Amino acid sequence: PTASAPPLLVAIDGPAGSGKSSVSRAAADRLAFGILDTGAAYRSLAWAALRAGVDLDDERAVLELLETWGFTITMRGEQWVTVTLPAEEGAASGDPVDVTAEIRDPAVSAQVSRVSKHPAVRERLNEMFRRIVAASGLPGVVIEGRDITTVVAPEAPVRILMTASPEVRAQRRAGELADMSHEQVLADIAARDAKDALVVDFFTPAPGVTLVDTSDLNFEQSIQAVVDIVRAVQRAA
Ligand code: DC
Repeated sequence: PTASAPPLLVAIDGPAGSGKSSVSRAAADRLAFGILDTGAAYRSLAWAALRAGVDLDDERAVLELLETWGFTITMRGEQWVTVTLPAEEGAASGDPVDVTAEIRDPAVSAQVSRVSKHPAVRERLNEMFRRIVAASGLPGVVIEGRDITTVVAPEAPVRILMTASPEVRAQRRAGELADMSHEQVLADIAARDAKDALVVDFFTPAPGVTLVDTSDLNFEQSIQAVVDIVRAVQRAA
């Protein structure tokens, strides 16, 4: 009877290395909720623009690509992301390409802010995020990014800003990027944060947003912190 009830939204923002992505995914699993990783959409768009030869700094060209590309992302279990390029972009176009691994490549990471800086592009992607969540048919969705608590879903019953100290974030990233030195990783994170922060402030919790600092929390404790906040809201509802 409640098939059309909208999912309970859990909005989580934070910088890279705060634990946001892995903790959001694990918390969603534990709650039997879906997970929408909005960064993966920005990454996929950058990947598509690079692949299609679209100038990433050209807002209109990127918007045009958004009109014609195909994008799918799974919301339960392991993440799986595909992109379909517009038909005129060559022989391989028209078929969905599995970009799950490639969008994590540092070569893509370094380019994403060139597409995410465009306000009209953000607006279109935000509409897409709201559509995906509404159509999910899931009891709840954890949606994570940089501007979810403030722009995409400011009405979400649960809003969390996840942070960690720069040192801790660099350590966690270094684990993922084994071929880079600690200093390189720290510099990489600082450079990306500086670019991203020009577009949205994801370091200061907006009014009503719960700050979860994971600097002194391990993975399990971080997951539990999120699950506890969600359960408290569910109980109060
Ligand atoms: O969370 P992530 O590292 O996968 O994000 C990739 C890039 O996308 C990052 O440079 C910031 C940008 N991004 C954004 O601008 N807004 C979001 N809601 C999510 C990501």
